[in-house]
Amino acid sequence: MSDRTASQQAALDRSAVLAEQVLADPRKFRVLTGDRPTGPLHIGHYLGTLANRVRLQNLGVEVIVLIADYQVLTDRQAGHQLPATVRGVVADYLAAGIDPDRSTIFTHSAVPALNELVLPFLSLVSAAELHRNPTVRAETETTGRPPTGLMLTYPVHQAADILFCHANLVPVGLDQLPHVETTRLIARRFNDRYASRSPLFPEPAALLTATPMLAGLDGKKMSKTRGNGIALQATEDQTAATIRRAPTDSERHISYDPIARPAVANLLDLLAAATGRAPQHLADEIGDRGSGHLKRLLTEAINELLRPVRRRRADLADDISHIDAVLDTGNSRARQLADHTLATVHNLLGMTYANRQPAIAGAFRQPGAIPPGTGRAGRAARSTPAR
Ligand code: TRP
Repeated sequence: MSDRTASQQAALDRSAVLAEQVLADPRKFRVLTGDRPTGPLHIGHYLGTLANRVRLQNLGVEVIVLIADYQVLTDRQAGHQLPATVRGVVADYLAAGIDPDRSTIFTHSAVPALNELVLPFLSLVSAAELHRNPTVRAETETTGRPPTGLMLTYPVHQAADILFCHANLVPVGLDQLPHVETTRLIARRFNDRYASRSPLFPEPAALLTATPMLAGLDGKKMSKTRGNGIALQATEDQTAATIRRAPTDSERHISYDPIARPAVANLLDLLAAATGRAPQHLADEIGDRGSGHLKRLLTEAINELLRPVRRRRADLADDISHIDAVLDTGNSRARQLADHTLATVHNLLGMTYANRQPAIAGAFRQPGAIPPGTGRAGRAARSTPAR
């Protein structure tokens, strides 16, 4: 990994301490993590976060996984194919080992109360703070367009994602650290302003994995949108072909030098992450056998690592009713948590003056229709269907 800022280094140090605490007492932790459903999940997700979520779940930590289908609206191309993409991501989760009997998988759009939390939270940050967020700035620079309101406020939405379920642990890559900071800020300000006697929200901690942020095969940030990663669902041949196309340099001898030889270092980083070995050692072993050999090793390592995941995924992906049932269950559970949190927030904000029960169907009427049971007009309305 190249140069880190002091605050990134501090977060890595804190993560090491947290990892110990999780091992000592997993039941003290509730994890919330998520992905934007922009396409199939790839090896970067797997090595960066997915494998870690499964490990946490298996330790006994409560894990809640969000498919951020509102946040995905910030990527313009990603809107189409949403049903297939979301179901594909669920299949990726299940194949990687997320167990729906122990963990919760849900989507933004199925949990209105979560989204409503964004409104009070927006009142707790300034526009200047939103404009300063480094990840939002970076993403705006990549698209070359001024940020939409949704893009600018998505760290606040992400705070709602994390706080609606009172998660206290957020496993993320380095690029997501600013959002966890925003979340902590919002939790603190909400507690100070509205719940000073007994704080409502925990200030969640970021848990960084050992391999945060793997670059894609072209050396740029690995992203579903750039197609420079290896999808979990790719075949072994597709995997080999993608790796064969990856750029290297003209020097035959393989050495690990992220500054002078970024393309080769990037492949070594991936191989290191897939095998759990140090990139320098791998480079020494490959030596004069060159980049062809490096690529063969990488192909084998990734295919071997993903073989069981791919086998499970092949069994699952066609079973749409099972996938939808997993989402239904997860969505209901998330709604329960979000409804409870929003009700508490309403109380703390003093929004207690009317019945807050969910509206019943009969409470709605068409605009302009005459309410039933109001004298002669009402009786007339009942015999003629309202428009
Ligand atoms: N922003 C994350 C990404 O792009 C996805 C995400 C949405 C998320 N909400 C979250 C991650 C809450 C952690 C916690 O990958």
